[in-house]
Amino acid sequence: MGNNKELSREESAEIVGMDQDSFDARALELKLPGFKTNKIKKSTLEKYFTLSVDEEFDSHVIAISNQKGGEGKTTVSICLGEALSRSGKTLLIDWDPQANATNLFHKDIKFSVMDSLGYRGKKSVSLERIILPLDKNYDLAPSALDLANFTTAYERDDFELLKEALLPIRSKYKYIIIDCPPSLGLILENALIAADFVLVPIQTRAFSVQGLKDLHETIEKIRKKANPRLKLLGAVLNQYEGQKALSGLATSIKKYFPVFKTLLYRRESIPQSQAKMSLLSHYDSQALQYFLDLAEEVKGKLDV
Ligand SMILES: Nc1ncnc2c1ncn2[C@@H]1O[C@H](COP(=O)(O)OP(=O)(O)O)[C@@H](O)[C@H]1O
Ligand SMILES: [Mg+2]
Repeated sequence: MGNNKELSREESAEIVGMDQDSFDARALELKLPGFKTNKIKKSTLEKYFTLSVDEEFDSHVIAISNQKGGEGKTTVSICLGEALSRSGKTLLIDWDPQANATNLFHKDIKFSVMDSLGYRGKKSVSLERIILPLDKNYDLAPSALDLANFTTAYERDDFELLKEALLPIRSKYKYIIIDCPPSLGLILENALIAADFVLVPIQTRAFSVQGLKDLHETIEKIRKKANPRLKLLGAVLNQYEGQKALSGLATSIKKYFPVFKTLLYRRESIPQSQAKMSLLSHYDSQALQYFLDLAEEVKGKLDV
């Protein structure tokens, strides 16, 4: 829709919400096609900049991220998504080649999210076509091992493939949750460029301060270079057992991330519901309450 419209430098600066000098400097740095001839395609601008019109989406994209495995990313993604789906249509994107979230609910999938990226010129299937239902108001974009091939950026666009795949369906959902892989790299960077918010689950028994520092650096790098809209929602303590003084834990985490008030206690029904391929509300409504509380806290932070 009007994406091939050619824009002047002035129009372009206005659309991306920057003053002229900053826009010109950034455009030169990026070698923005069309800048020198003063004919910048809208589609080019979309690829190189975060357009301020993006802000008009009323959907919220939240990346659930921590490069360590076993912290609760997949659990928080599924259960927070389930809780949020009570107040608006929600999409869970399984963005991990291990496909844990997908395998919990769907055994044989035809397409994975990798098929909708168009990576290395591969013809892509729209994200909309690969989506599977999880519940009444809750959908899943499934993953598979083939996402592990998404490792190297050959073109600048490769950092924005998830963001682009999401664009046509963003307005269909109120909340979009991205379950990130336990690694730093192209897959995570795509998630952080597609997202508006980041939430970091932390396993309270053994967490690595160095790991939090590295993740914080990655988030800051993406915010500065590629996605100035990205906001840190904060860290949520998971598998909390009440054994450690909370204040000490929170102090070391707060150096890097604000900490949610809601605590996710360790509860056996959580892995049990997963083993039974069941949503938490069908299995243990009390455990779901943690995630309903977290959802309320998250919603409070989305609108400010
Ligand atoms: N609050 C919790 N109580 C009990 N078990 C949990 C809790 N959160 C996560 N788990 C379990 O811990 C394991 C790792 O969690 P998972 O969400 O898969 O982490 P990640 O996606 O970060 O690797 C899973 O077996 C999951 O069922
Ligand atoms: Mg996981």
